[in-house]
Amino acid sequence: MVTAPGTSHQPVLVVDFGAQYAQLIARRVREANVYSEIVPHTISAAEVAAKNPAGIVLSGGPSSVYEEGSPSLDTGILALGVPVLGICYGFQVMATQLGGEVSQTGQREYGATPVTLKGNGGTLLAGQPIAQTTWMSHGDAVSKAPAGFEVLASSESTPVAAFANDERKLYGVQWHPEVKHSEFGQRVLENFLHTAAGIPGDWNPGNVIAEQVERIRSQIGTGKVICGLSGGVDSAVAAALVHAAVGDQLTCVFVDHGLLRKDERRQVEEDYVTATGIRLITIDAEQQFLDALEGVSDPEQKRKIIGREFIRTFEQAQAELVAESAADGDPIRFLVQGTLYPDVVESGGGTGTANIKSHHNVGGLPEDLQFELVEPLRTLFKDEVRAIGRQLGLPEVIVGRQPFPGPGLGIRIVGEVTKDRLDLLREADAIVRAELTMAGLDGDIWQCPVVLLADVRSVGVQGDGRTYGHPIVLRPVSSEDAMTADWTRVPYDVLARISNRITNEVKDVNRVVLDVTSKPPGTIEWE
Ligand code: XMP
Repeated sequence: MVTAPGTSHQPVLVVDFGAQYAQLIARRVREANVYSEIVPHTISAAEVAAKNPAGIVLSGGPSSVYEEGSPSLDTGILALGVPVLGICYGFQVMATQLGGEVSQTGQREYGATPVTLKGNGGTLLAGQPIAQTTWMSHGDAVSKAPAGFEVLASSESTPVAAFANDERKLYGVQWHPEVKHSEFGQRVLENFLHTAAGIPGDWNPGNVIAEQVERIRSQIGTGKVICGLSGGVDSAVAAALVHAAVGDQLTCVFVDHGLLRKDERRQVEEDYVTATGIRLITIDAEQQFLDALEGVSDPEQKRKIIGREFIRTFEQAQAELVAESAADGDPIRFLVQGTLYPDVVESGGGTGTANIKSHHNVGGLPEDLQFELVEPLRTLFKDEVRAIGRQLGLPEVIVGRQPFPGPGLGIRIVGEVTKDRLDLLREADAIVRAELTMAGLDGDIWQCPVVLLADVRSVGVQGDGRTYGHPIVLRPVSSEDAMTADWTRVPYDVLARISNRITNEVKDVNRVVLDVTSKPPGTIEWE
């Protein structure tokens, strides 16, 4: 049987019609404990069959089926006998291919839209209220269901808002069940997956660990392997998985570039190592990075310097380890990377976006490294990685950690990076993190960069004296994937406490400001 790489579960394939929804659908399918994979809409029926899917979901997309060159689907796919759920654009593609009608009604439905179920809603909408709110985003509408299909729901301007053919196991909805604003969206997906397609919900972090451990063992055998730890979740979980598989064949390297947050090094060296028993080598490179960054204010230049120094440092450490291991006749051949599924999807299926910032992942290494890569998180989303980390017993300070950029605090100082400024920012950042956690806001906030405007000064008054200090910017954002974000509405009293503490406790800061920009147009980080 052909199965998804790295898992023994038959996948549900999410066919991507070019919107941002495919990743969200794939995640929601997994939230129903079913393994999912994203594939491009150009996939052929034969390629689909070769993946032996348990089900297929056709995503929404920004096009109209009427547009010339709009994304299409191999007609053989709907004839494979695999259960299919079409969503929005995918629903209309199904209707068109199966002999139904799609018309340009001229009546756009966008946002929260009431729909009414017909009868009991069939397998797909079973157990749901007759009247419910869904999230729609479409111009065209299915005006006539294909022959043999039952209409399950309608809205004011869409007569066929959902249809089904139980015998052929083909289903479709006009709305977006993957979006939380669709009241019973997850139920639609679950009904499709578990009832219509009969797929058991047995994919979970526990069996991901067991499968990955098996896979890593068979890849690495008795070989030696290294991993660069960044202090972040991904590399920490990737390393812990590899350690669970091959124990002391793994050595981790942690580069302290001096741009870390307060207490981070200790958490890695003590908490993480205690929890895992991993062999860790820390490289103290603070001075090297500070020297390289001296006099540099331009954000791109900073990023390049930090990236370059990181690679240099890691390569040196790795060369020493390789030499040491070669001396005992068993050179290191493998390198662990914490690549996640969204990175795989974006680099494989991307249409090429503008280079907004040269991103650098600590642990992101030059391409000419002579190692075979071990990437145990390649099929996983961030929240799944966290769940696995927890199951492996990693410390919550690491597993629950917000995303943190590879170049660290170096790109959160607007202006030149110096040791004094880093120390100051570390204090302010620690206060913000502590207060947000204490206020119970960690679940609402994707990340909260704290930025020091080192090149800006403003006048203040503290005690009896005039001050001429720097502002600190708070940038709390809510997001699903960091591609888009909104600023988090942190309660005023929490903001007040943070502001008071920072201006009282952090020397040279006399002003705290809040960034109220969404992304786009603002990026999450300031640099
Ligand atoms: P922006 O600022 O582009 O950030 O909206 C999107 C997400 O990426 C993180 N980020 C980085 N992560 N290396 C990383 O590993 C980087 O160079 C980098 N720059 C930004 C940022 O924190 C946010 O989560």
